[in-house]
Amino acid sequence: MNAYSTSQVALVTGANKGLGFEISRQLAKQGITVVMGTRSEEKGNIAVNRLRTEGLNVYMVKLDVTNSADIETLPKFLQEKFGRLDILVNNAGVLFDWGTKPSELDIDILRSTFESNFFSAFAIIKAVLPLMRQSDAGRIVNISSHLGSLTDTLDSNSPYYGFLGMAYQASKTALNSLTVQFAKELMESSIKVNAATPGWVQTDLGTAEADLTPEEGADTPVWLATLPADSPTGGFFMKRKTYPW
Ligand SMILES: NC(=O)c1ccc[n+]([C@@H]2O[C@H](COP(=O)([O-])OP(=O)(O)OC[C@H]3O[C@@H](n4cnc5c(N)ncnc54)[C@H](OP(=O)(O)O)[C@@H]3O)[C@@H](O)[C@H]2O)c1
Repeated sequence: MNAYSTSQVALVTGANKGLGFEISRQLAKQGITVVMGTRSEEKGNIAVNRLRTEGLNVYMVKLDVTNSADIETLPKFLQEKFGRLDILVNNAGVLFDWGTKPSELDIDILRSTFESNFFSAFAIIKAVLPLMRQSDAGRIVNISSHLGSLTDTLDSNSPYYGFLGMAYQASKTALNSLTVQFAKELMESSIKVNAATPGWVQTDLGTAEADLTPEEGADTPVWLATLPADSPTGGFFMKRKTYPW
C-alpha cells in the first residue's frame, strides 16, 4: 500500500504476542489498517501472517521501543507507506521484578524497566505526534497497569496491596502521569490520550494463573482506541470504567 490509506491507521507496539497481538486483531476486525510494531522481524512476520490468514489488513514494522534509531525512522515510514496515523497503542512492556522488595531491587533493573515501559512511550508519542495531529480523530492509548495505581498500592483492602515489583509499578505510575500530561497539552486538539489497565490477563507476562483471556483484556484498550469525539481524555480505565490513579 502507498500513501494515502483511506482507512484509519493504527500502530500497536509489542504486537507479536499477548495483548498487543489481540489488540491488533480486534482493531483490524473493525476495518482499521494495523501496523504491528515488533522488535523481532521474524516474530513480527509470523504474527502478521497469522492475522492475514484471518483476512485482516495488517503490516509489520521493526520497532524495538528502546531503540532510538527504530523510533526515529517511524514517522517517515508511516508517512510514506500509509500517509497517516490515527491510533497509537503503547503496549510493549516488561515485568522483571515480580516478587522483589524495593530494598533488594537492582538499579539496573529499575532503569531498564523504565526504558521499556516509560521512556519508550514518551519517545514514540513525541515522534509520531506531528503525523497524528493531521488526523481528525487521533487516539493514544497507553497500556498501563492496575499495579501502577497508587490508590491500590496504599489500600490494604486491595487485592494488589501485597504485590512486590517496584520497578514495574513505578514505571506504570509514571506512564499514568505521562498520559495526563499529554492529554492536558492536547486538550484543544482532536487527539485523546488515555491509559488502560487490561486487568490480569493470561499472557507470558501475566502467566497462565491470570483470570482474563487476551480477548477480554484487549477490550478496554480497543474501546479507548476507537472512542467517539465526545469522549474523555486524560483518564485511566479498566473494564471501560474509570480506575483510581
Ligand atoms: N498480562 C497482564 O496481566 C497485564 C496486566 C496489566 C498490564 N499489562 C501490560 O500489557 C502490556 C502487554 O503485556 P502482555 O501481558 O501482553 O505481555 P507479553 O505477552 O509478555 O507481551 C509483551 C510484548 O511486549 C514486547 N516488548 C517487550 N519489550 C519490547 C521492546 N523493547 N521493544 C518492542 N517490544 C517489546 C514483547 O516482545 P518480545 O516477544 O520480543 O519479547 C511482547 O510482544 C504490557 O505493557 C504490560 O505491562 C499486562
